[in-house]
Amino acid sequence: MKIGILGAGNIGGSLARLLRDAGHELLVSSRRPERIDIESVQAGTPKEAALFGDIVIAAVPLIAARDLPAAELQGKIVVDAMNYIPDRDGRIAELDAFESTTSQWAARYAPGAIWVKAFNAILADDLPRGDRPPVKGNRALPIAGDDAGAKTIVAERHADIGFDALDAGSLDESWRFERAMPAYCIPLNRAELADRLAAAKRGQELPHNSWHR
Ligand SMILES: NC(=O)c1ccc[n+]([C@@H]2O[C@H](COP(=O)([O-])OP(=O)(O)OC[C@H]3O[C@@H](n4cnc5c(N)ncnc54)[C@H](OP(=O)(O)O)[C@@H]3O)[C@@H](O)[C@H]2O)c1
Repeated sequence: MKIGILGAGNIGGSLARLLRDAGHELLVSSRRPERIDIESVQAGTPKEAALFGDIVIAAVPLIAARDLPAAELQGKIVVDAMNYIPDRDGRIAELDAFESTTSQWAARYAPGAIWVKAFNAILADDLPRGDRPPVKGNRALPIAGDDAGAKTIVAERHADIGFDALDAGSLDESWRFERAMPAYCIPLNRAELADRLAAAKRGQELPHNSWHR
């Protein structure tokens, strides 16, 4: 399938290589596309990536959601890999007050897009790349969204690259695997992931960086 990726950094670049190797057609964006050099992956602007993809992965800093190419994303499945990192994004009062999830906040900048939160809860360094080993057997990753059909398509893209997608519910529930929740960026199988999602308490964060292996 055609997949656009907004952002060619750690997570966008790694997902581009993996999905390319799984047989998909990729267009990855930068505000300076001439700087992208990923073999057999097209480079373009964010608008071009949004137009290109049947699904479009958002792999930019959360605050950059305000600059998403909204018109081009209308009707598209947007895979939201973004996390709220106040040191990078600045403070967002609505998120600090838990009035919405980071995905609900970001989705507002692309009305008419079909939003699925996914790939935010794995470190880019844990994605296979070059000399890094392939995904080990049964690592599960959480996804969330309000459209069942879109979640099925996104779950299939997980399987393509060796992951077991676990449906963690609606966008409203997606805080359960936001940054520093118990399910965040820790290798888990399906049953362990389900337990950690259930154990999450809003506002109760893991110690900083304890999720690193
Ligand atoms: N790194 C990880 O392990 C990891 C894991 C899971 C999720 N995430 C999340 O994924 C997102 C990307 O993280 P990353 O580590 O890949 O970041 P990164 O390496 O810094 O890459 C960010 C990308 O976003 C682009 N960008 C920045 N501002 C933009 C804007 N206003 N409009 C369009 N593009 C913009 C940059 O492109 P240009 O400057 O070339 O335009 C760059 O390609 C973040 O939300 C992060 O929290 C990261």
